Amino acid sequence: MVKFLAETLGPGGYRKAMNSKAFGELERRESQALLAGGHPRLAKQREQGKWNARERVHQLLDPGSFVELDQFVTHRCTDFGMEQQKVYGDGVVTGYGTIDGRQVCVFSQDFTVFGGSLSGAHAQKICKLMDLALKMGAPVIGLNDSGGARIQEGVESLGGYAEIFWRNTQASGVVPQISVILGPCAGGAVYSPAITDFVCMVDGTSFMFVTGPDVIKTVTHEEVTKEDLGGAETHAEKSGVAHLVYPSEAACLDGVKKLLGYIPSSNRVAPPALKKSDPIDRLCTKIAGILPEQSNKPYDVRQIIEDVVDDGEFLETQSGYAANLVVGFARLGGRSVGIVANQPAHLAGCLDINASVKGARFVRFCDSFNIPLITLVDVPGFLPGTAQEFGGIIRHGAKLLYAFSEATVPKLTLITRKAYGGAYDVMASKHIRADLNFAYPNAEIAVMGPEGAINILFRKEIADSEAKGNTAEVRARLVEEYKNKFANPYKAAELGYIDEVLRPEWTRLRLIRGLELLANKLEVRPSRKHGNIPL
Ligand code: HXC
Repeated sequence: MVKFLAETLGPGGYRKAMNSKAFGELERRESQALLAGGHPRLAKQREQGKWNARERVHQLLDPGSFVELDQFVTHRCTDFGMEQQKVYGDGVVTGYGTIDGRQVCVFSQDFTVFGGSLSGAHAQKICKLMDLALKMGAPVIGLNDSGGARIQEGVESLGGYAEIFWRNTQASGVVPQISVILGPCAGGAVYSPAITDFVCMVDGTSFMFVTGPDVIKTVTHEEVTKEDLGGAETHAEKSGVAHLVYPSEAACLDGVKKLLGYIPSSNRVAPPALKKSDPIDRLCTKIAGILPEQSNKPYDVRQIIEDVVDDGEFLETQSGYAANLVVGFARLGGRSVGIVANQPAHLAGCLDINASVKGARFVRFCDSFNIPLITLVDVPGFLPGTAQEFGGIIRHGAKLLYAFSEATVPKLTLITRKAYGGAYDVMASKHIRADLNFAYPNAEIAVMGPEGAINILFRKEIADSEAKGNTAEVRARLVEEYKNKFANPYKAAELGYIDEVLRPEWTRLRLIRGLELLANKLEVRPSRKHGNIPL
């Protein structure tokens, strides 16, 4: 049509013919849409250190790549005089563009329009975008800044939220979903981010809660600030809701791009591989110096990870929550991997409720999106105590066991120091179908540590030694005997539970070779509707 008009009307004729009316109307509407909630509200947003909805999208996407959809959608509400207050876009900017050349779908709530609150029309825009993303296999990135359900719309708004929640669930494990919280996120609205794969927050300007400070005060008489209740720090350290926290919006949006670099656009494609200059056969010379000789001395497992992975780059998620288990992304030989590691520097690396839940969710994310798992094991067992037992460590610990067991991505496990008890089984052992299992020569693989073991096995002998006054001597001998027998990797290696007792310097090379070997891994599980993970 355009070609036909251009040919008939001559150069510029089409534009000229339209100029008179149609272009004028389009431009009028466009500039009205760009004005959003108006200058005073845009200025207020800026004063609070927040960008507006469109600025955020442009900051996130490759320059010039954003294509907006549904710019002229308006709400349909006629109550409370709402028919007099219509703003193009209805409080959310939706569209698609690229990040590092890869297609993504983005929605960005506009707090300057009815506080970014969600109307039926606003929800429909987000749903349309999610449907598109699911069809074409593109990540969905939601920039959230909203007062929640549009109060004037009542149940239509609640229905809109539920439509989004349903789509979040359908998209889970099919396309990555990233929620960026850049302002308030309250009430049931928090459940969309909660279903998504990653929640990113900005310190000081974003907060999330189901019921706000006022309601809490009325119902429970507790007094709490918005920040303490649902600020970034709270969710990064206490609740575990936030995966990544940044000091500013700019840092946050940059962080989202970095995160996306490790994950595929959908479960139909492989994660992006990058050519790295770090040699595959680079020796890991630092590990031997990082690992203490004593099996109970703390060290920071992140130093080992950094010595092994490409260019020492490790993107840790949920770093402030359940620090006894480290999870995050890195590359090995250019391939994206998910790393799960016990952290001896915190709670001696014990598994507890929070660490189990954190690890299980991360393992399931990697498995959904074909990201191989590297598990570094140095675990004295599950954390003892009534708080853990009453809190359901049995149920929660089972999540991690279940997640590792059901994962079919390549699984490579390395025991760096100790692997005791049930935690040995849980941490991607050979028995729950890890593909390649390694252990360093100093590894201790046993039912429990020497001290605990001799107390049970030699109770009578120790009691006798107490009577004779030579307990220290007897204990030392028994510990030594136990260590010689069990506190090494060789029993496991003899049984084939460990494929190789590995020199630490060769860690990088072995893991990369293992990933190459397993690149086309195919593992079939029994047919079923879905398993029943102990939630
Ligand atoms: C309609 C809303 C709104 C809402 C804010 N606004 N929230 N309009 N529906 N939910 C409007 C305000 O009227 C105001 O309009 C503008 O947005 C900015 O709001 P302010 O209050 O001036 O901003 P601020 O002081 O920064 O406070 C932000 C806020 C507060 C903390 C988010 O607005 C607030 O508490 N809003 C209500 C939050 C809430 O309870 N939502 C419902 C949650 S329940 P003007 O015209 O003055 O600029 C829920 C259920 C979801 O969401 C269920 C899903 C299953």
